[in-house]
Order: sequence, then structure tokens, then C-alpha cells
Amino acid sequence: MKILMVCLGNICRSPLAEGLMREKIHSAGLDWTVDSAGTSGWHSGEAPDRRSVQIARANQIDISHQRARQFSRADFNRFDLIFAMDKSNLNELRELASSEAQRKKLKLFLAEIGDMPFEEVPDPYYDGNFQRVFDMLDVASDRFVQKYTGNR
Ligand code: 4NP
Repeated sequence: MKILMVCLGNICRSPLAEGLMREKIHSAGLDWTVDSAGTSGWHSGEAPDRRSVQIARANQIDISHQRARQFSRADFNRFDLIFAMDKSNLNELRELASSEAQRKKLKLFLAEIGDMPFEEVPDPYYDGNFQRVFDMLDVASDRFVQKYTGNR
């Protein structure tokens, strides 16, 4: 399985989602691929926001090596599942899809997991609430891996 996590800038939410998902995949002993991208290219080439790096590091996850990149149409062929962090990201991705098969790969991450109190991962760039984002992504990525491995 190849999974892509997508937000707006690829510096706050999706790098955390990538790092957490990689951690859960590794712990479950799975041979899956995970990457992340932004619908915008505003921060292309940059390391994740230092607040994301810090909260990941405080939880024994290193995301400092990641570099932001913009989503491209080729990603529809490279990945099996493309998870948007919020509805605006999902809408942007839908506009880029050119077939029903591509559209089917697009999911709103928290809604897809089900049983989450929110459907969207709120953008922490201005409000600084990275803890809330980390906690949501931690639970959601854990549930995703459990769901697909049949554990629980
Ligand atoms: P992200 O957060 O989409 O979670 O990476 C943002 C990063 C940068 C900006 C907005 C959101 N920005 O406006 O530059």
C-alpha cells in the first residue's frame, strides 16, 4: 500500500501525518510506503515548521529530514490512497483528478477513519495549536493501521 498525506503547505499537518503513519506502519511490521505533499508550492523545499518538528521530537519521531513539495498529477499514479487533511485540500485535489479511478483514491482523512470527533484536521499555522493536531493524527493513523491489519 502506498499512502500520500496532503495539506496546504506540507510544512505543518501532513509532515506530522507522514511521520506518525510511518511510525505506526513500522511498528506493525508492514512494508507500506508513506509520503506527504501540499496542494500549494508556497513552501517547496523547506523543512517542516519548527513547531511540528518539536512536537514530533517530543514524541520520539524525527521529521526534520522531510522537505516540502507540491502535489502533482503524477501522484495519482504513484499512490493508492491520498488523504486530505481538510475539505479545502480535498476540493483542490478533486479538481486535479482526471478520472473516476483517480477520484476514488481521494479521501478526507479523519472522515475515512470514522468515529473521530472531527472531520478535518485544523490548520495550526496561525493558531499554534500543534498539540491538538498531533493528538488527532496520532489516533487516526493508529486506527487506520489497525483497520487495515485487522487488529481490533
Ligand atoms: P499546513 O499549514 O497546510 O498544515 O502545512 C500551513 C502552512 C503554511 C501556510 C498555511 C498553512 N501558509 O499560509 O503559508
